[in-house]
Amino acid sequence: MLATSTVAEEILDLKRDRRAILLAHHYQEAEIQELADYVGDSLELARKAREAEGDVIAFCGVWFMAETAKVLNPSRIVVVPDKDASCSLVEGCPVEPIREYRRRNPEHVIVSYINTSIEVKAESDILCTSRNAVQVVNSIPEEKTVLFLPDRNLGAYVQQQTGRKNMKIWQGSCIVHNTFPVRRLLDAKAAYPDAVVVSHPECPADVLRNSDFIGSTSAIIDYCGSSPAREFIVMTESGVNFSLERVAPGKKFHYVANENCNCSECPFMRLNTMEKVRDCLLHLEPRVEIPGDLMARALVPLERMLAIR
Ligand code: 13P
Ligand code: SF4
Repeated sequence: MLATSTVAEEILDLKRDRRAILLAHHYQEAEIQELADYVGDSLELARKAREAEGDVIAFCGVWFMAETAKVLNPSRIVVVPDKDASCSLVEGCPVEPIREYRRRNPEHVIVSYINTSIEVKAESDILCTSRNAVQVVNSIPEEKTVLFLPDRNLGAYVQQQTGRKNMKIWQGSCIVHNTFPVRRLLDAKAAYPDAVVVSHPECPADVLRNSDFIGSTSAIIDYCGSSPAREFIVMTESGVNFSLERVAPGKKFHYVANENCNCSECPFMRLNTMEKVRDCLLHLEPRVEIPGDLMARALVPLERMLAIR
């Protein structure tokens, strides 16, 4: 049992007193996931946020996910443990060039990954996550030109899956997945020849080519749970280990470290700590506040995505 600390008890008390729901992404540290009302991938968390009751949503993930929760459930107070928990994809895709692109190419369809700022979402025609990106692009008439942003690896994967020719791809990347080296994956495959390789589509194309299954964080977890295989090489953030051990007890999971930090952890996601979760519930800060017109504009592409099942 992990959640035995005083901080964990304080969080549970505050959650009750504040009528708060705690949503956690799979990349949070295990103690936070253990206390959460719901743990999921970005699409599942968006859906949970939309239907959340109570007064407060404490969102343990990164800022763009909390912004999404606020847009989908604006009457709730949405707080985060650390306002600096951003994402390299958000940072690498400022809104000004997207506005300019839109102005120059009004007939193109802008498909934005949910890992974007609220301002970029507001300029987009439809959003997607790693779970539904292929369906979202397939929902757009073939003759339309698509601008897919901001992840180049997910974009290339979607283009390959859909066979879409008229698709432009923004060249952003995830500082975690994009630095998983294929060389280390091949070493791991040689060391664990019976292991099945499961990868997040933000990984580079050569990693994806050497994978047996490609999917969102929750899709990877579901796949490992239901697969008859006993051993896996996991090409995503190692926070998924918490749910993997729950759904697949006794199976073995190996993680390939990235080049920069020799770990598989997202430095943004890992800014959140148990103490910060407690403090955001205590002070109801940092809080997500978005101007009403921006919320209304970002809601349109979000709802279009959520309508696709
Ligand atoms: P998921 O949509 O799989 O949760 O991924 C979000 C993310 O940030 C991956 O790095
Ligand atoms: Fe962003 Fe990558 Fe971290 Fe996901 S793992 S939140 S894409 S930086």
